[in-house]
Amino acid sequence: MNKNKNLTAEETGRYWDGNADAWTELVRAGYDHYRDLLNTPGFFSILPDIKGKLGLDIGCGEGHNTRLLAKVGAKMTALDISERFILHARGRENIETLGIAYLASPAQTLPFDGDSFDFVTAFMSLMDMPEIERVFGEVFRVLKPGGFFQFSILHPCFITPTRKNVFDTAGKVVAAELAGYFDGDKCSVDEWMFNGAPANRPVDKFRIPYYHRTLSEWLNIALGSGLTLEYCHEPCPGEEVAEKYPSLAYARVTAFFLHLRFRKNDGKL
Ligand SMILES: C[S@@+](CC[C@H](N)C(=O)[O-])C[C@H]1O[C@@H](n2cnc3c(N)ncnc32)[C@H](O)[C@@H]1O
Repeated sequence: MNKNKNLTAEETGRYWDGNADAWTELVRAGYDHYRDLLNTPGFFSILPDIKGKLGLDIGCGEGHNTRLLAKVGAKMTALDISERFILHARGRENIETLGIAYLASPAQTLPFDGDSFDFVTAFMSLMDMPEIERVFGEVFRVLKPGGFFQFSILHPCFITPTRKNVFDTAGKVVAAELAGYFDGDKCSVDEWMFNGAPANRPVDKFRIPYYHRTLSEWLNIALGSGLTLEYCHEPCPGEEVAEKYPSLAYARVTAFFLHLRFRKNDGKL
């Protein structure tokens, strides 16, 4: 892990532009097992009814999860700071038309009027963003009263700046060593690849700007924006899926992901 000064949103966007082509190719080929088998199903399992609702997905990447939201009946707008990701998302929309409006924009300044959306989602994107207080402030502003904000992040308590899986003599993961929980004031640029990606992949590793924040920082920033906490969820893979995809077993030892849903009060008691 490479500790950096805090990057601007535009600088983090350039890292993501650099990842976008290879990321799109690999996720569309099914190599993001954590997303497809654990994180996204868990997120949808707690999602309120969004049929016919106006939704905004921030940090949409190539649009996989936005398309799923549209397929369950929401009218979706989605944005990402990476123009290359938006290009890929629009390319897919041209083939599989779901009525999703995509735009390239930073989440720190949302180009929408106040009270525009019934709900906002962010799948695994908020940890990559500097000035997160501004992002929550913007989400609060664009949500209609009574609307909700549901997001997934890497679990701040268990995916700490240092994490090592511990294995027994048979090679079974049995524990994790964690450190650096309070070392989160700077952006790190983490380098990694999806488990099981093919040897002939388009890049060796992605370079991902990441802001570790403690659990209390996340909660206090969200609550400080005026939102109210409504629901928490920590998806855990079943035994069968963990047997088939051994890296998913790591997420049975400690949670990997945290899903939170907040609501903008509608002023009624
Ligand atoms: C891990 S990817 C997740 C993509 C997608 N939500 C998914 O679940 O497949 C994180 C995304 O956040 C986007 N992102 C990072 N900083 C951003 C910002 N300030 N504003 C909008 N999007 C941002 C990145 O470009 C990237 O597409």
